[in-house]
Amino acid sequence: MAKEKTVFFCSECGTEFPKWLGQCPACKAWGTLVEAPKTKPSADLPLGGLSGKKVKPVSLRDVDVTEEPRTKTGMEELDRVLGGGIVAGSLVLASGDPGIGKSTLLLQMCRNLAANGTSVLYVSGEESLAQIKLRAMRIGECSDRLLFLSETDMGAIADQILTLHPEVVIIDSVQTMSMTGSSGAPGGPVQIREITAYLMRIAKEEAISVFLVGHVTKDGVVAGPKMLEHMVDTVLYFEGDSTTSYRILRAVKNRFGSTNEIGVFEMRGDGLQEVLNPSEHMLRGMPENEPGSVVAVTMEGTRPILVEVQALVCKTNYSQPRRTTAGTDLNRLNILTAVMQRRTGVEIGQCDTYVNIAGGMRVTEPALDLPIILALWSCYRNRPLEPHTVAFGEVGLTGELRSVTQPLLRVREAMKLGYRSVILAQSDCDSIRSQVPADIKLYGLRNIGDLKK
Ligand code: TYD
Ligand code: MG
Repeated sequence: MAKEKTVFFCSECGTEFPKWLGQCPACKAWGTLVEAPKTKPSADLPLGGLSGKKVKPVSLRDVDVTEEPRTKTGMEELDRVLGGGIVAGSLVLASGDPGIGKSTLLLQMCRNLAANGTSVLYVSGEESLAQIKLRAMRIGECSDRLLFLSETDMGAIADQILTLHPEVVIIDSVQTMSMTGSSGAPGGPVQIREITAYLMRIAKEEAISVFLVGHVTKDGVVAGPKMLEHMVDTVLYFEGDSTTSYRILRAVKNRFGSTNEIGVFEMRGDGLQEVLNPSEHMLRGMPENEPGSVVAVTMEGTRPILVEVQALVCKTNYSQPRRTTAGTDLNRLNILTAVMQRRTGVEIGQCDTYVNIAGGMRVTEPALDLPIILALWSCYRNRPLEPHTVAFGEVGLTGELRSVTQPLLRVREAMKLGYRSVILAQSDCDSIRSQVPADIKLYGLRNIGDLKK
């Protein structure tokens, strides 16, 4: 009898190999090769009548769309990131570092949903019922429509989901679940993929919204195959600095909404609190009239947020000056110091430069270029900016200031918080001048070389 031919393929990148290897030579991932039967070369297959199934393409005019009904989570910040609420039958993956607050966020969501009449099943594979109760006690009273299960066997969980038929199910976390009859080890890439596919079927066929919690590895990607992110409808990332209490929820992928939106939360003793006006929080405790501190307006999705950019410039004691950033991109700082030295003649290349975005947010938007340069400039000169001033603008390599997105929205947010003058690109200044009240001072810059004056 002929031996059945098998091949090995990498569960991360999909490359095929004739024999097993510890590391995939294509994507360099370790232990990802899995065995599968060798498929027939497609040259042997007939061209037509392969599946016997009849299908018919249609034009978009004949497709009916109904606005997906959305269930509000009772948290405006979460609704915004989800694209307006929970879509029935959607599969959402919530990931983030351990201890960041994934379980807390989902528990609070479930509590709100249950209080508004939605039936919810919360399955935890990581914590005992007593541990869940301790957490719930910090958050507040839970309705009886919210049921809990501490279980890791996927089959038993699925039976309960099908019997109870709740509207929303939480699986905390997908890595702790195991499925009998599945190949591969519990928590391994193969099982995670099969469990997710299984939950996807339950979500779609039964119109139940499923939230999966996924761990991230130390490089910040969701543990398990990358395919997990492709399979689900929405991927949420919960991030934040463990030293600050602010947490940012971001949609990395969303089939039902924009991926640009963020939600801002604060971790308190009694659970997560929504931060509806992040600008005020980001600027709290900001020094006044200090050299090296500049308020920048950045856009997070459709939301303008004010952040404080701090810079410190001092004479270096080393042969090579040190440059460090916190909350923004180091390469950008390297470019900006070079541009600044060349265009303004300031000998900043010989100085140690440190840039910090206060408040624990990470901003990589190009509109931060001008505020960084102004903060460096102000620190170098030891002169604070005019009080109540904000800045935004992208700086190119010739030192020219370029337009940014949504200048008017940014100026309006700054006005709301009491700022009276704005430093921006001349082109943005011209485009919004007529729409801004006359008592707001707009300083348009064409090139950072103009700073010399
Ligand atoms: P948790 O939701 O368990 O994190 P994850 O599921 O992402 O691992 O959050 C754990 C952290 O949050 C823990 O360090 C304690 C803290 N916390 C509070 O500060 N306040 C609270 O009300 C709760 C419930 C947790
Ligand atoms: Mg948890």
